[in-house]
Amino acid sequence: MNPRHFISLLDFSGDELRSLINRAIVLKINRDPNYQPLKGQVLAMIFEKSSTRTRISFESGMSHFGGNAIFLSPRDTQLGRGEPLQDSARVISSMVDCIMLRTDKHETVTTFAEHSSVPVINGLTDLLHPCQLLADMQTYFEHRGDIQGKTVTWIGDGNNMCHSYIHAAMRLGFRLNIACPPAYQPLPSIVDAAGESVGFFDTPVAAAQNSDLVVTDVWASMGQEEEQKQREVAFKDYQVNAEVMAAANNDALFMHCLPAHRGEEVSAEVIDGSQSVIFDEAENRLHAQKALLEFLLCKKPR
Ligand code: CP
Ligand code: NVA
Repeated sequence: MNPRHFISLLDFSGDELRSLINRAIVLKINRDPNYQPLKGQVLAMIFEKSSTRTRISFESGMSHFGGNAIFLSPRDTQLGRGEPLQDSARVISSMVDCIMLRTDKHETVTTFAEHSSVPVINGLTDLLHPCQLLADMQTYFEHRGDIQGKTVTWIGDGNNMCHSYIHAAMRLGFRLNIACPPAYQPLPSIVDAAGESVGFFDTPVAAAQNSDLVVTDVWASMGQEEEQKQREVAFKDYQVNAEVMAAANNDALFMHCLPAHRGEEVSAEVIDGSQSVIFDEAENRLHAQKALLEFLLCKKPR
């Protein structure tokens, strides 16, 4: 039987995502050290790019559940010396129970999944960041209840986070208002599949009208560092600041996947202000991914 993978939010139904989010909320409230459903199980984590939250949350989550996590980088495995992905996926999956990858190219994760005998989790690619969306949605549900029918605003780069927000809008039934500079729009293939779930605006203030949640991300993602200066020019009118938050609903939340650059994509006043829930969002990576690991790996129904 082919294992279930979590490469994109679209791999799961809206009901499955809601059930994961609600389970994450329960796991967070009722931390039971005796509940070790993954005892003896091993997660391999392959990181081609840096990470603080993703690495620590998966490693701690496996430990809480009685399992282990192994950190692997291309630098010190044969992946960095050109061993084919297909062979690596077959070999690694023959020895562990789950594989998480953070890679440059999205195709690396999809190729791995095709050849893996165990579930593969996307821990961020250039195209998508679905694990972050589980945490973001958990955070919204905790603060405000179900996000169905709400309006979310994405401001800034049409990047991996923006793409996963589009998928979340499709699966969870919210409206996504997007304001990105013309040269940094999300991919048409992802936008076209979303139909009425997304709408485009020329300015951040216009996109934030009637919004329940305002979200942004760095102007230059990992691997785009040499474009920083050029992007600072292109994105200068796309900062989430007090004026943008004032256009949103009074009880709107602010989120950012972190790491953030205060004074660039978000003002310090907003990210450190009362509407910001960034630290709940970061912590929820742990709880949401524990729910994901339980869903993918637990043999017994809970
Ligand atoms: N948000 C996020 O994925 O953080 P890390 O890069 O620290 O893992
Ligand atoms: N868009 C960012 C997200 C980091 C968590 C990046 O890819 O670097």
